[in-house]
Formats: sequence, structure tokens, C-alpha cells
Amino acid sequence: MGVTPNIAPSMLSSDFANLSSEAQRILDSGADWLHMDIMDGHFVPNLTIGAPVIESLRKHTSAYLDCHMMVTNPLDYVEALGKAGASGFTFHVETSKDNWQELIESIKSQGMRPGVALNPGTPIGEVYPLVEAEKPVEMVLVMTVEPGFGGQKFIPEMMDKVRILRKRYPSLDIEVDGGLGPSTIDMAASAGANCIVAGSSVFGSSEPAEVISLLRNSVEKA
Ligand code: DX5
Ligand code: ZN
Repeated sequence: MGVTPNIAPSMLSSDFANLSSEAQRILDSGADWLHMDIMDGHFVPNLTIGAPVIESLRKHTSAYLDCHMMVTNPLDYVEALGKAGASGFTFHVETSKDNWQELIESIKSQGMRPGVALNPGTPIGEVYPLVEAEKPVEMVLVMTVEPGFGGQKFIPEMMDKVRILRKRYPSLDIEVDGGLGPSTIDMAASAGANCIVAGSSVFGSSEPAEVISLLRNSVEKA
């Protein structure tokens, strides 16, 4: 495969009260990215963190902060996230049918990498225009659970979307998020995912370095 693996532990499963030490611990365990789940209590029934927390964390790490925007109005947060030091800004296609071009442009102008996410019920064809645009997204995040909470069960049917995307876009970053761990990674890796979000399987383990290396090996050998 011509794409590199990026293992992105979800900080949603970390101890938020010790965010910077949790981030360092998981980077020391071999993580490539830190996945930051930003939820507004409206697009999803949960409320988490926003730009002030990203800004605080940025003072403690130079790691790639992979921000997953589960918010109804992503455009409202682009400038604040950019200034806070976010690296990737992945918005949901369900929230952005009318303004994705403006969003991508504004994300890039803030020096962030644009990505698009889609919910389990959203057909894969909805992201094609965003990948094929003149100013395209650089990553597609295929949700493998309903967004909102960590610790849910992986939906294997979503691998059809990953396979279709990988066939159509051989060098695209394809991220999977939800229920990924030692028992599901081979399905995702063989379908063609290279960016792997994992919350409870990494933070719930007493040996996170082993889980991260298992995830990476699976993507590398796929
Ligand atoms: C769910 C979030 C995920 C979540 C994954 O809405 O987008 O990033 O933290 O957690 P696990 O790996 O436990 O399913
Ligand atoms: Zn996420």
C-alpha cells in the first residue's frame, strides 16, 4: 500500500484531568497522532472540548492534533481551532452540504489539513465531490460507530465504504473511527484504512504500546 499508517489514539478515552501527561504517555507508547473529539451537544448528544483545550494542549506538545468536529456548524470553529494550533480539521459531510467548499478553503487558510467524516447511515458517494474538488479534502473519516461516545461496537458493514474509497483513491488518507482494536483492526486494514483511531482499546490497556504496535503492524502488512 502506498499510504503510511497513522495510529491516532482518541483522547476522549484518556483522563481529561491529566490531558498533557496522558498525551505524552501515549506518544511515548508510539502514537502518531492525537485524535481530539470535539462535540457540541447538538450534532451529537455529548459535549466535550473546544478550542481552549486544544490551545492548552498545544503548549505541551508538538504532536499532530487530529480534530474530529462533531458539531452542527463547523465553519464557526475554523478560525479558533486554527489559532489554537489544531493540525487536522475533519468536519462531517452531514453538516456541510451547502458550504463545504468555503469550509475547505477556510481550513487551509488557517494552516490546517481538511478532512471529511461520514456517519454510518450516510452513503459513500456523498464525499466524492469533496475528494475530487479543485481544493479537495485530504482525508476521509469513515465512522464505524454512531458518533458521540467511545467504547461502542465496531460496525463491520462500514468496510464496504472503505474498500470502495481505497479502490477509487489509492493514495488518499482513509481514517476509521469507532470500535477499533486488536479484534477489528484486520478487517479495517485489509479493506484499505491507513489512519486508525482507537480510544478504549488503547487507553483501556495496561500495555498501550503493544496495542499501538499491533494496530500499526496490521496496517503495514495489509
Ligand atoms: C466517537 C468518537 C471516537 C471515539 C472512539 O464519536 O469519534 O473517536 O472516541 O472510541 P473507541 O475507540 O472507544 O470506539
Ligand atoms: Zn472521533
